[in-house]
Amino acid sequence: MSQPLNIGIAGLGTVGAGLVRLVTDHGSDLATRAGRAIDITAVSARDKKADRGIDISAIPWHDDPLALAADDGIDVVVELIGGSDGVAKDLCEAAIQNGKHVVTANKALVAHHGTALAVAAEGAGVTFAYEAAVAGGIPIIKTLREGLAGNAIERVYGILNGTCNFILSAMSDQGREFEDVLKECQDLGYAEADPSFDIDGIDTAHKLAILASVAFGSEVNFDAVHVEGIRHISPMDMQFAAELGYRIKLLGIASVREDGLEQRVHPCMVPEAAPIAHVAGSLNAVVADGDFVDTIVLEGHGAGAGPTASAVAADVIDIARGLRVPTFGVPAAQLKTISPVAMERHYGAYYIRLMVVDKPGVFADIASALKNHAVSMESVLQRTRDPGEPVPVVMTLHETEEAAMVQALDEIAAVGAVVETPRMIRIESL
Ligand SMILES: NC(=O)c1ccc[n+]([C@@H]2O[C@H](COP(=O)([O-])OP(=O)(O)OC[C@H]3O[C@@H](n4cnc5c(N)ncnc54)[C@H](OP(=O)(O)O)[C@@H]3O)[C@@H](O)[C@H]2O)c1
Repeated sequence: MSQPLNIGIAGLGTVGAGLVRLVTDHGSDLATRAGRAIDITAVSARDKKADRGIDISAIPWHDDPLALAADDGIDVVVELIGGSDGVAKDLCEAAIQNGKHVVTANKALVAHHGTALAVAAEGAGVTFAYEAAVAGGIPIIKTLREGLAGNAIERVYGILNGTCNFILSAMSDQGREFEDVLKECQDLGYAEADPSFDIDGIDTAHKLAILASVAFGSEVNFDAVHVEGIRHISPMDMQFAAELGYRIKLLGIASVREDGLEQRVHPCMVPEAAPIAHVAGSLNAVVADGDFVDTIVLEGHGAGAGPTASAVAADVIDIARGLRVPTFGVPAAQLKTISPVAMERHYGAYYIRLMVVDKPGVFADIASALKNHAVSMESVLQRTRDPGEPVPVVMTLHETEEAAMVQALDEIAAVGAVVETPRMIRIESL
C-alpha cells in the first residue's frame, strides 16, 4: 500500500468532530477503498480542553489553525471553521500556496471566493474540494461534475436549507404561525439564535451560486442571486396553496436562458405532483435537468455531523486515490462569465392574496390594474367573513414578466379597499 494521506483538521465543532468519528470508525475500510491509509496528523480549534465526545489525545494540536498550512507533515488541510472571510479564507489560501490540497464544508467561503480559490488551487496543482458545502450528505457536486458531465444542464434547483424546510413543513402540516415554529426550532437547537442566514435565504443563495457554477461552467456569482426568505409566509397562504393544489417551499433555482443566467431564491408554490413538494421536515433535495439524462432527483440530509462528515470524507478519499477533476467541472481559467438576468425579467405564473373590504366597484379596480399591465387572471378564490371585515381574495395569474406583475401589484395596493400590502408568491412549473 502507498504512503498514508495525512490530513490536518481545522475546526472540531459539529462537522470536525463528525469527521474524526468517521475516520476512527471506518479507518480500515477507507484505507482499502483509497488504496492508502488516511491519517489525521494534526487538529486545531479554539478551545483545546473542550469536551467534543471524541478522543483526540494522541493527535498533535495546533493553537493556530494557520500552522496546519505550514506543517510539512500534512498533505490535506480540512477547513471546518466557517465564515466567508477571516481565518477560514486565510487558511485555505495559505494551504494552497504551500502546495497542500484543501477540503472545506464552508459554503459562504466558496460562494464568495470560489472562483479565486479554484484558480489558485489549479495553478498550484492541488485540489480544492467542497462537496459538503452544498446539501450536506447529498453528493450533488460529484453528480453534476462527474456523473452528468456528458449533459448540457438546463436547470438546477432544490430545497437547500433544512431549517426553512422544517419550518414550512410544520406550518403546512400543523397550520402554525412562522414565529411559533421558528421559536420551537431555536429551543430544539435546530436554528441559530440569529437565524437570519437560514430564514432570509442567504444560506440557500450561497449553495445555489455554487451549484450554478458547476452546472453551467460559470464563475461563482453570489452577488447576482435574487434572494428572498420565508418570514412573510402565513398559514393562510399555506391553506390557499393546498386548496389550489400546491405546496410552498423555499427553493434555489438556477437556469440558463438565451439572455443570461437566472439565479433566484424565494418561496415558491410547487405543484403537489412534483417530487420536491413531498420533501418534508429538515430534508434537502436537488433536481437537475440535463439534455440527455432528462431529470434526476437526489434527496437526503442537508446538514448534521454524520451527513456532512460523509461528504467531507468523499472529497478526502478522492484526493487519496489521486482523482483530480477541475474544481467547478471545467478548468478554472475557462469558467464563463454569464450575464445575470435581473429578477424583473423573470417570466412565470403568480399567486397573489389581497385583503379587501368588500365594496361595490372594488373588483373592477383590481381587474383594471391587472389589465393595465397586461396580466391575465387564471382563477379567483374569495372567502366571506363578517360584513365590513376585510376578506382574503386570492388570484392565480397566467405567466407574465415580473416587472408587469410588480407594477400591477403597486396599482392594486393603491386601491382604497385593499387594506394590507398584497402578498405575492411565484408559482413554479416543475
Ligand atoms: N453543521 C452542519 O450541519 C454543517 C453542514 C454543512 C456545512 N457546514 C459548514 O461546516 C463548517 C463548520 O460548521 P460547524 O457546524 O461544524 O461549526 P461549529 O460547530 O461552530 O464549529 C466550528 C469550529 O471551528 C473552531 N473555530 C472557530 N473559530 C476559530 C478560530 N478563529 N481558530 C480556530 N478554530 C476556530 C471552533 O473551535 P471551538 O470548538 O474550540 O470553539 C469549532 O471547533 C461551516 O463552514 C459550516 O457552514 C456545517
